[in-house]
Amino acid sequence: MTPRPGSAGLLEEKLGPGPADLVSLAPGRVNLIGEHTDYNEGFVLPVAIDRYTEIAFRRRRDMSVRIYSSAFDESFSVELPLREPRPEGRWHDYLLGILLEFGKLLDFPQGFDAAIVSHVPLGAGLSSSASLEVAFAVGIARLFGIGIGGLELVELCQRAERDFVGVPCGIMDQYVAYFGRAGHALLLDTRALRHRVVPLELTGLTFLVIDSGTRRTLAGSGYAAHRRECGEAARWLAARFPDAGIRSLRDVSPEMLDRVRGEMPEVLWRRARHVVEENGRVIAAADALARGDAEGFGRLLTASHISLRDLFEVSTPQLDFLVEQGLSLGALGARLMGGGFGGASLHLVREASVEEYVSRLGAAYRRRWGLTLKSFEVRPGDGTYELARTSPRR
Ligand code: GLA
Repeated sequence: MTPRPGSAGLLEEKLGPGPADLVSLAPGRVNLIGEHTDYNEGFVLPVAIDRYTEIAFRRRRDMSVRIYSSAFDESFSVELPLREPRPEGRWHDYLLGILLEFGKLLDFPQGFDAAIVSHVPLGAGLSSSASLEVAFAVGIARLFGIGIGGLELVELCQRAERDFVGVPCGIMDQYVAYFGRAGHALLLDTRALRHRVVPLELTGLTFLVIDSGTRRTLAGSGYAAHRRECGEAARWLAARFPDAGIRSLRDVSPEMLDRVRGEMPEVLWRRARHVVEENGRVIAAADALARGDAEGFGRLLTASHISLRDLFEVSTPQLDFLVEQGLSLGALGARLMGGGFGGASLHLVREASVEEYVSRLGAAYRRRWGLTLKSFEVRPGDGTYELARTSPRR
């Protein structure tokens, strides 16, 4: 493997001599379970991984911002204050969105240079974009001594992605990129915006992320349409059960859905069914994890996949193949992970058989789809931090 220069080295190499003032990092994430629940005020169980987006920052004397990205081997520059920028469907949209949000809080005193190195694979369902946003926002806050952190900063990142980039994402990815804790999953209630940490200890087992090699971007996928359907489903149910206090699908019970089967528009019913049952699975999965019940946990993963495939309809033939083959090769559970429409899958497998599992699954996948699988074992890492400090921020 060719050594990759760290972001501070890259800053000097690509944007001129002079040391970095600080380096910020934020991780990608794996979501164990709870898919398409976060924008319905439901529950999710994500884990920050030990793969980070790393950004070196250096203040400038003028008002320019120059940013180099190693993933795209490209630089981008802009002058502060921003003058009505428009999204261009490029990597720097995320950064412009963050700059715009900070621009609402303060007048930037000066510009800066930044060099980005991403160790989070892009477009593979690992939320490289949220890790970029959080690392960038944490770095800017620190660079200019802006007293913003915690949930406020997480929400700033979500707004940047939603309002500027145009992806109506939930809050899970930015939240876990900030609050993640090594060795733990976060059981996050996206209505209360509070989490509980759950130790990730399944003895003899490991979570594998297997990338289907079919890329997707949320901006170009059916994500927004599915989100709209969830909103419509909640409104339909609120009108049908006016006394139940339904604000979102979080407030809907399985029994309500049983009662309106055949009466509610079919697609909306399926979307709602997925969300309502998935919320139940998240809670059950956190309990299974706490009890060390790996088999129970695995069954919930697979049930989640079936629901994402049949009810929420965000799977692809490649992801279905990976899950089915994985189960026949002995996985305790498997499912597509993230928004869907391609990207990654998550497999719970025995540690001792990881190598054989990956090689047999890879061979079957190559035969069927002519694509090479990429996989890695999930090692839970910490949320965002600064390199200069010895311990993670919290
Ligand atoms: C993407 C979004 C998240 C979440 C997932 C689906 O990763 O960014 O907010 O909605 O899809 O669970």
